[in-house]
Amino acid sequence: MKKIVKRVSKSAAKGQGKKSAGKLSKALASTVELVAGVAREAEGVVRDFASNVTGQPPDATPGRATDLLVAQHRKLEQLFERLESSKKGFDATLRELADDLSAHIFIEETLFYPAVRKLNPDIILEGLEEHAMGRFALQRLLGTKASDKSLRLRLKALKELMTNHHHEEERELFPVVRRHMPNSKLERLGAAMKKSFDTGVQRGHEAVLATFHDQLHQPVRAKSSRSVRRRS
Ligand SMILES: [Fe+2]
Ligand SMILES: [Fe+2]
Repeated sequence: MKKIVKRVSKSAAKGQGKKSAGKLSKALASTVELVAGVAREAEGVVRDFASNVTGQPPDATPGRATDLLVAQHRKLEQLFERLESSKKGFDATLRELADDLSAHIFIEETLFYPAVRKLNPDIILEGLEEHAMGRFALQRLLGTKASDKSLRLRLKALKELMTNHHHEEERELFPVVRRHMPNSKLERLGAAMKKSFDTGVQRGHEAVLATFHDQLHQPVRAKSSRSVRRRS
């Protein structure tokens, strides 16, 4: 594609002068950017679709930040299904869900959201509110005894809340991110997020949830990347 841009620029320079060739070259270069962005987005849509159909994470490697998050969404949904369908190993699965969900929210709020906030500030604010509600619902569920009739209802409420939130992120945020961020940058971000997620899971949900300072009457804000560096 770059060769074509050069060739067109050259021939334009001969016929119309260097000025108009420069303009044409710029226009073609931005078209190339646009096409590359659309191609990246299409690739992501195909991966997400395959992941939705098979129920399997799209990628075993960290890959791009958005792919990592989609894979984590699918795993969380599988854990919800398991908890709803069987009592076998309920406590261990609930703990796995709590660890994964807390670490997932943590890496989104400390790494992913700050990196992409400018692309869609409204959806980020909405996401932060939904995370706060998710953390509240998760802690409420964790504090419920197995004999309590509310256990199933609280599990259902958390599942619906988080599943809707995942689908909103995948539908409204991730495609924009893929369109505007080069794969190399998304892969670097994904690697940092994977590392932070693994550490979070190792620390456990109690420790991770304690790092959020939710207050009922104050808006939730994303943590700055500087505070993330200090923590790690
Ligand atoms: Fe989220
Ligand atoms: Fe997410």
